[in-house]
Amino acid sequence: MVNKAVLPVAGWGTRFLPATKAIPKEMFPIIDKPVIQFIVEELISAGIEDLVFVTGRHKKPLEHHFDISPDLEVHLEQNSKDEVLKSIREISHMINPIYVKQKEQLGLGHAILTACPAVGNEPFVVALGDVILERGSENLKAMLDIFSRFKNTVVALFEVDYEETHKYGIAKVKEIDKNVYLVEDLVEKPKPEEAPSNLAAVGRYIFTPSIFETLEKIKPGKGGEYQLTDAMKLLLEKEPIYAYKVEGKVYDTGNPLDYLKTVIEFALKREDIGEELERFLLDILSKRSQQLNIS
Ligand code: G1P
Repeated sequence: MVNKAVLPVAGWGTRFLPATKAIPKEMFPIIDKPVIQFIVEELISAGIEDLVFVTGRHKKPLEHHFDISPDLEVHLEQNSKDEVLKSIREISHMINPIYVKQKEQLGLGHAILTACPAVGNEPFVVALGDVILERGSENLKAMLDIFSRFKNTVVALFEVDYEETHKYGIAKVKEIDKNVYLVEDLVEKPKPEEAPSNLAAVGRYIFTPSIFETLEKIKPGKGGEYQLTDAMKLLLEKEPIYAYKVEGKVYDTGNPLDYLKTVIEFALKREDIGEELERFLLDILSKRSQQLNIS
């Protein structure tokens, strides 16, 4: 039975500086809900409620988000804002968080190792704080089923264009069932010509505690950081790793362009603002193409 998840959220968010100087990128809003809340809701719907956040000094807003907010609640109560009050209360009762501090940002592998004392000797999910999956909890439940079948590491994959392999951990796999694979090799952020496939790690994993032993052994890898992918590659020498190809869309919010695309897609689906936003977008796009035709 898997009850715990580790959410590594200590990164600098360098791709979004200066915005991330004081605000964690995981707190960036998809209209009115921070990215991290989507991920927490996915975990809760899949039955994972003990959440270990690996944070850093600049991540206090994230802790505040999941804390109670007495003054705000009184204000909303006095102004009869019942619906929003309900949602604010839900957020603070959503989880029992454990915050672990990663004092130096030495990479994803190092962040997961920092969570070891809080995880203990049990299997756990890792959910990265900047990827939203359209069918998040369904995919995670499917991964949990694979884990209970094989009792070994499971990594979630999705197909990317070859030009994008340099952004992800890429797996070489052999299919053993529909959407279920045995991993044969892993490479962190390879160039397209060096990529063993176009199946990328999407930021959801289920590990047994044996990952901690391999995390202790690895040396700094790509970008001089301790890479989770390198620890998994080492783990492959000892035990099998399974993979699951996720269903539905993947929204990467970890860089400005993809973040913006995510916000627009989510906004277009909203009943309250979707139609007006669509009209606005069509209008500016048609004006732009008219200008381009004139010049
Ligand atoms: C991390 C991992 C990479 C994975 C990616 C998913 O990279 O190192 O293997 O494919 O997350 O988003 P990052 O995006 O933190 O650079």
